[in-house]
Amino acid sequence: MPQKIVAGNWKMNLSLTEGLDLVKGIDACERDQNVRTIVFPPALFVNAIGARASGEIEVGVQNFHPESEGAFTGELSIKQLKSAGATIGLIGHSERRAYFGESNAFLKEKVDAAVNNDFEFIFCCGEPLFIREKNGELDFVKNQLNESLFHLSAEQIQGKIIAYEPVWAIGTGRTASSAQAEDMHKAIRSWIVEKYDQATAESISILYGGSCNRSNANELFSCPNVDGGLIGGASLKADDFCSIINAF
Ligand code: 13P
Repeated sequence: MPQKIVAGNWKMNLSLTEGLDLVKGIDACERDQNVRTIVFPPALFVNAIGARASGEIEVGVQNFHPESEGAFTGELSIKQLKSAGATIGLIGHSERRAYFGESNAFLKEKVDAAVNNDFEFIFCCGEPLFIREKNGELDFVKNQLNESLFHLSAEQIQGKIIAYEPVWAIGTGRTASSAQAEDMHKAIRSWIVEKYDQATAESISILYGGSCNRSNANELFSCPNVDGGLIGGASLKADDFCSIINAF
């Protein structure tokens, strides 16, 4: 069975003090212990947030550079991030793709860097609105996965995490319906079966992201192929985030 996971992507929000308060609040909530809980603060705060979080909350980063060191002004390598306590990173978030020009080929480099440096990751995929409006979402997402992730061997992809985040649902308050989410998640799992095998497909957690909140999380998480959520706005309040963790 895939792991149940709820992860909070704080994006470029919160000061250090606010982040420390948030993680303290999450720690203090009664949470379902069967759900793996991860927070993705701004990288600058990873060390401090990790020191404040109990061992049950994992701390990851929203971005990293695929090279291990060198002249990449403003960037951070996996080695540096691990040394500050990060255990996992996001790859392919739609905001990185759209605003920072990250291509499928560049994301493939990040996937390889993560695998080679034993750094866990959540691989994000999802279609923009104009693609959904012409019913092209399955081909679009399949292509993202084919070009950046599905080159891994069965052994390498074992236990990895994918997040389906339709771009039109991110930060818009317009959540995918549970049927839309389940259709995509089921398709993603079927592609993993086709490319690898059933056991590999069942080892991979597929999270939903895009306006997931305390009111709709239960319905989304009830879908057989939705193994949790990657939460933006609703992860910035401890109560809301904990309600989502407890929504299974
Ligand atoms: P929202 O939950 O704010 O829509 O953001 C989702 C997201 O982008 C998580 O990575």
